[in-house]
Amino acid sequence: MPTYARFPLALVRGRGSWVWDADGRRYLDFVGGIAVTALGHGPRGLASTVARQIDRLVHVSNLYHTEAAGRLAELLVKAAFPSKVFFCHSGTEANEAALKLARKYAHGRDGADRSEIVAMENSFHGRTYGSLSATGQSKYQVGFEPLVPGFLHVPFNDFATLDAATGPRTAAVIVEPIQAEGGVRVPSSDYLRRVRGMCDRKGIVLIFDEVQTGLGRTGRAFAFQHFGVRPDILTLGKSLGGGLPMAAMLARDEVVSAFGPGSHAVTMGGSPAVAVAALWAMKRQLAPALLRRAAAAGAYLRSRLERLRCYPAVQDVRGMGLLQAIELDRPARPVVETCVGRGVLLTVLQERVVRFLPPLTVKRNELDRAVAVLDRVLAETGGTDAAASAHA
Ligand SMILES: Cc1ncc(COP(=O)(O)O)c(C=O)c1O
Repeated sequence: MPTYARFPLALVRGRGSWVWDADGRRYLDFVGGIAVTALGHGPRGLASTVARQIDRLVHVSNLYHTEAAGRLAELLVKAAFPSKVFFCHSGTEANEAALKLARKYAHGRDGADRSEIVAMENSFHGRTYGSLSATGQSKYQVGFEPLVPGFLHVPFNDFATLDAATGPRTAAVIVEPIQAEGGVRVPSSDYLRRVRGMCDRKGIVLIFDEVQTGLGRTGRAFAFQHFGVRPDILTLGKSLGGGLPMAAMLARDEVVSAFGPGSHAVTMGGSPAVAVAALWAMKRQLAPALLRRAAAAGAYLRSRLERLRCYPAVQDVRGMGLLQAIELDRPARPVVETCVGRGVLLTVLQERVVRFLPPLTVKRNELDRAVAVLDRVLAETGGTDAAASAHA
């Protein structure tokens, strides 16, 4: 169906930070399946691990315990905070689970009047109806009304407006610690701490959507760890399954007590073949040495991108870890299309933003190469001669 603006490329294989098209041309992949292939393409050992599990036991449903899902939950809880885990397949599904749990908990504690969900303008939480209703961008919603009632939106990184908008009717606040699809927007350092304090004071469940920022992307296991706060509910997805479809919701025990058998379910969530892939990937991805490496690579990428500010077209450089972006004063699609033509895959956000999502295993010379290609494209199309030659 015509739901994607695809680039005219058919990709057939990948290794590390690289992918190859059907004609044998190779590309530096700084899209990474939109933050999914965080360990690079074809990490050695993943395929055989999954193949062995498929041969042994591919699926049994959530009517039974399985080892990999249990071990994975343990690993995630240890990395995040004391909690319980619900497995599903996509970010939007993890957010649906979070919204349902938050409302059920609030209803059970305070009655059905406490049902409002406050979300952020410019946020992105997914495409199913609950997550779409939480999403704060009308371009995703137009034509799909009526949306789920009970959602309202306030500006991101504006504590006073959030504080004024919340009260005894508020069940939950849902926020991405860093707005990703919204253009890679990092809040001020005390914003999330103030939101946490307010939620505690008013008895509101705080949900962090870390579908894109979680699992090492920002140089720590979770973006919230940069800000010194914890949510009540955390959603994860993207790279969790090592490239296979897996997502998760983690929640504090007290909140989880609102759920019982049958409250929420999904037939294949945490299915053994996907759970072994996730366990294999997370053991590597959340290892301190890889997180340190990702943080260093992110700082290096940022330093290289900062140098592009010499071009008048570059309005801003921002991000955290290996989620970085530059904002242009013009549509970014032509710039990105030229980069793709020269062997570097990048994505466009919000018309004028170019986003970098290299694997956490990216090498310095690969970062140099991608930035050099973008630098040249900007020199040709987005800068004055004076700026380009001063930079050279
Ligand atoms: C922060 C955030 N939440 C949720 C989603 C939705 O994830 P999925 O496409 O797996 O449903 C995304 C996808 O980009 C995201 O960035």
